[in-house]
Amino acid sequence: MSSNSPRPSSQPSFWDERYAANDHLFGTEPNAFVASQVHHLPPGGDVLELAAGEGRTLAYVAEERGAACTALDFSRKALEVCEQWAHEYNLPMDTRMADVRTWTPDRQWDAVLVTFLQLLPDERTALYRTIRRSLRPGGIVIGEWFRPDHLSGNYDRLGPSTEDRMVPVAELRAAFGEDELLRCEPVDVTLEEGPLLRGEAAVARLVARRAT
Ligand SMILES: C[S@@+](CC[C@H](N)C(=O)[O-])C[C@H]1O[C@@H](n2cnc3c(N)ncnc32)[C@H](O)[C@@H]1O
Repeated sequence: MSSNSPRPSSQPSFWDERYAANDHLFGTEPNAFVASQVHHLPPGGDVLELAAGEGRTLAYVAEERGAACTALDFSRKALEVCEQWAHEYNLPMDTRMADVRTWTPDRQWDAVLVTFLQLLPDERTALYRTIRRSLRPGGIVIGEWFRPDHLSGNYDRLGPSTEDRMVPVAELRAAFGEDELLRCEPVDVTLEEGPLLRGEAAVARLVARRAT
């Protein structure tokens, strides 16, 4: 593969195949960090998750906060599970199949979630802009990503295989520098996020309130 070829994980087909081959690739429990920060989300508000996968975290947020949820992902397979789940549990969940790298928000939400969406550096610049545009003033973003230390430190082999897909904390601090940073920090954790994301990991975590 030449350095200009699109990488497999940048393609929806890569994710469709993975979701089709596994029952609940990232488990059925919500992302643990988002669950620990859910009190920041206004009861009865509306919440967008970018790269929501099968919607495990949104399903929790819908139940816990009575939130109206929007799940965006470019994998049709993942969104099918999201829709089944919403139907089965009668959750207010809207799904959008879109590539976050080219998607333009057409409205705003009270909160935006993003967990383990490991884009390349220039794609991340656009992602942060999209997150801010998707938030109402005063809205909350909660995010978690692998950070570059993960590859060099004494951690388990999980997550992206190259450093360019990992997110330095300083990058988050700069991208959300105009906003109120409630948390923006490196954390070493034991992930238990389904069969793929299980083990010791170096992550970057963000909770920010968009400037009004
Ligand atoms: C590691 S999974 C995490 C899924 C979910 N956030 C979770 O924690 O369960 C990454 C997700 O990002 C989606 N994804 C990757 N690149 C994307 C893009 N450019 N646009 C939309 N979705 C994307 C994949 O389809 C996959 O569902």
